[in-house]
Amino acid sequence: MTQRFIIPHKGRITREDRERMKNHKSFILWFTGLSGSGKSTLSHRVEEKLYKMGVHTYVLDGDNVRMGLNKDLGFSEEDRRENIRRIGEVAKLFVDAGIVVLTAFISPYRKDRDFVRGLVKEGDFIEVYVKCPIEVCESRDPKGLYKKARAGIIKNFTGIDDPYEEPLNPEIVVETDKESLDECADKIISYLIDRRLIK
Ligand code: PPS
Repeated sequence: MTQRFIIPHKGRITREDRERMKNHKSFILWFTGLSGSGKSTLSHRVEEKLYKMGVHTYVLDGDNVRMGLNKDLGFSEEDRRENIRRIGEVAKLFVDAGIVVLTAFISPYRKDRDFVRGLVKEGDFIEVYVKCPIEVCESRDPKGLYKKARAGIIKNFTGIDDPYEEPLNPEIVVETDKESLDECADKIISYLIDRRLIK
């Protein structure tokens, strides 16, 4: 690798200044779960509720990341790792910008999620396990991908012939087969209020 001399410039406006301006903390709400578990739907519902409360948010999910920034990546273990690494770095920038960033990716490997946790200050990474039995995800099959995976048309499909490592100690667990969308979203909002991250 060529030798690089990178000396970051430190601006006079800090993350804390930006947080003060917005009147809330910035942090990452990291949604993880199987395909069809409800990550995207839930993260967007939480965003709507936060927006109504005056919180500055942004959702990163498959559509705006795998079609742009990460369009060169597939679904091998290495590519998934790189996908999550880049998303983690982007999310870290959002935190510095004073924004609440919600991410909705399967992120099947514990090591990769923990890597992102380690990128930011303790407490800035809130892991939300969107728990749902695979049978239920498969019966929902909103994109018809489970059917294709069972037919062998899609290989390395998470939960079918690729692993999903459940979070061991997530900050929040929601069970989308048992709780309604609003119940799940309200549980997350209550957690954020209890921790005084938002008012
Ligand atoms: S990962 O594992 O975090 O890098 O995956 P992610 O970026 O969240 O992308 C998951 C979406 O891609 C579609 N898809 C697949 N998912 C899992 N395994 C395989 N092989 C695969 N191929 C395509 C699928 O629509 C996932 O979207 P969601 O919203 O999770 O259903």
